[in-house]
Amino acid sequence: MAFSDYRTALVTGASSGIGAATVRRLCAEGLTVHAVARNAERLEELAAETGCKPHPVDVGDSAAVERLIDAIEIDVLVNNAGQSRRGNILDTTPEDVDALVDINLRAVLHLTRLVVPGMAQRNRGHVINISSIAGHYAFPGGNTVYHATKAGVHSLSQQLRVDLFGKNVRVTEISPARVETEVFGRLLGDLAEAKRRFFDDYDSLQPEDLANAIAFVVDAPARMNVAFMEVLPTQQVVGGLNFAQRKTPTTS
Ligand SMILES: NC(=O)c1ccc[n+]([C@@H]2O[C@H](COP(=O)([O-])OP(=O)(O)OC[C@H]3O[C@@H](n4cnc5c(N)ncnc54)[C@H](OP(=O)(O)O)[C@@H]3O)[C@@H](O)[C@H]2O)c1
Repeated sequence: MAFSDYRTALVTGASSGIGAATVRRLCAEGLTVHAVARNAERLEELAAETGCKPHPVDVGDSAAVERLIDAIEIDVLVNNAGQSRRGNILDTTPEDVDALVDINLRAVLHLTRLVVPGMAQRNRGHVINISSIAGHYAFPGGNTVYHATKAGVHSLSQQLRVDLFGKNVRVTEISPARVETEVFGRLLGDLAEAKRRFFDDYDSLQPEDLANAIAFVVDAPARMNVAFMEVLPTQQVVGGLNFAQRKTPTTS
């Protein structure tokens, strides 16, 4: 498969960051791209710029998603919409648990179940799931629910390949580390502060880097499925081991 074998794509979380960059890139490759997010105004701006088809839909609204998918045929599905939260399980609210599971995991499963049967029937398609290094590693500062949902995205990507055995439908999981997007600004409720704290002094990945990674896996030959791609900034590593010392040492 290559871009010339596909006609259409659907990208969730298309109003900013990795999703918007991916819409720009896939439109430039000549695909008809359906762009999904909640912010209608931003989607309209992206449509004016790229020619994509804007769909202001909350991916957590399964009925709205189903109506959308009923009306279109999709060759490349990019499950990218995602949210995070501050804190860990010690201070997570019930609303945060539900929202993260709904957007990061339940919506991905629903979209996949709605789109993939058509791909299997046509014997043509590519599902690209954006997970996170949080789905593969534990590290301080991560939100436990976010980590769990992204691990779920890893697991469903693995099993989806088994479900599609023998079909020309590829499944790729892309697991990014830090990308300079609005994700931390949304967490803090302050984009400028997030820029200062998380990006100004670091060579983070840029959204275009991930869009290029997506373009690479889509354009790979039909015989080649990039099943898993972990993408980190060169200056960021995952590793470390913590061991809390006893409060009362046994030796003096
Ligand atoms: N940036 C990083 O460092 C990083 C690292 C690892 C993984 N990721 C993953 O990369 C993906 C993209 O995030 P990003 O970094 O590009 O952040 P971003 O700029 O905050 O983009 C998130 C996108 O998701 C959309 N979205 C959120 N809730 C939605 C909902 N209920 N329905 C529809 N769309 C929704 C947002 O649009 P609306 O607000 O308009 O709905 C936005 O377009 C996420 O899955 C994230 O977990 C990011």
